Amino acid sequence: MKHILAVETSCDDTSVALLNSEGKVLSDVVFSQLKAHRPYGGVVPEIASREHLKNLPYVFEEAFEDAKLSIEEIGAVASTRGPGLLGSVLVGFSFAKTLAYCLNIPYYGINHIEAHITSPWIEERKLPFPSLVLIVSGGHSHLFLVKDFEKIFLIAATRDDAAGEAFDKIGKKLKIPYPQGPEVDKLARKGNPESFKFPQPKLKKSLDFSFSGLKTAFIHTLDKNNLFLKNFDEKNLPDWVYNIVSSFESSVVSHLIDRVEKAIEIFNPCSIALAGGVAANTLLRIKFKEVAEKRNLPFSIPPLKYCTDNASMVGFNAYLKLQKGTPSELDSDAFSNAEWERIGGV
Ligand code: KG4
Ligand code: ZN
Repeated sequence: MKHILAVETSCDDTSVALLNSEGKVLSDVVFSQLKAHRPYGGVVPEIASREHLKNLPYVFEEAFEDAKLSIEEIGAVASTRGPGLLGSVLVGFSFAKTLAYCLNIPYYGINHIEAHITSPWIEERKLPFPSLVLIVSGGHSHLFLVKDFEKIFLIAATRDDAAGEAFDKIGKKLKIPYPQGPEVDKLARKGNPESFKFPQPKLKKSLDFSFSGLKTAFIHTLDKNNLFLKNFDEKNLPDWVYNIVSSFESSVVSHLIDRVEKAIEIFNPCSIALAGGVAANTLLRIKFKEVAEKRNLPFSIPPLKYCTDNASMVGFNAYLKLQKGTPSELDSDAFSNAEWERIGGV
């Protein structure tokens, strides 16, 4: 049986993975564009696509070297088809389709969010259904009920910012260089989460998320107390920085965990799982595990390499689709947004 080659270029990470016919990851190379975007404080779409174009051939070669495989051993090609920055998606998408066409092998166009949703199963194959999956990334904060890999239902979404976006935006206010989320996590470990009080979002009757009020409260607190940094010098920060970041992180995580607990009560899942870039957050990982253990629920919190964008999750989702033998048409188009069937009505 032949191997799966997967390509991920939906945002600012260029990644290629190789998986065997059982969906086991043999290699995954991720090239971060961090340096290219840092001077601008965030991802610049035009730069992101050009960087993918430049880096993808090298990442591709390295993935084969790491897995000790040759191109003849590939039986299927997969890539992210959307959602994401369209210019970025198109680089990996065109690359993968061309490869599939030239090698005359099936192509699988993968929904990036669905790849995040199924990523907890990469290492926890026996995680039971239905599973409640929290996806938290730079562009998404969603709760899904995964009845099986083909029956995925949306039960809650953010009404405004995504959780990662909120971390990035408040980090920017403190002049933290891009990417702000991981740095916010680092600073929060040294702060007191009780120092500042931020209100919990008010959507009482809904399971939906909202982070813009929290973000505004953070900015008001800075202004009201005349707190500001001239520049971000990691080695020389006043205590209030650690404390305010820690308090903000604690409020975001409480909001996410509150939704997870309410959803467990309503939908009674057999397991819970966490995915997406913000799933790398230290406090969220601790609290999510506590929720599962308190209720004796099987859970999956993937290793950090499968939380942030990576081609392994794209290859694994293709592996699941391969079992059904339904490849994508080569003339399929990329997309920038994804629609989900919503259940629950709350
Ligand atoms: O899934 P991802 O790699 O890309 C998207 O599809 O968005 O998620 C990136 C997001 C960014 O907003 C980043 O700041 C956030 O995840 N992030 C974190 C941490 N690591 C990454 N946020 C909080 N704590 C972290 N440790
Ligand atoms: Zn992502």
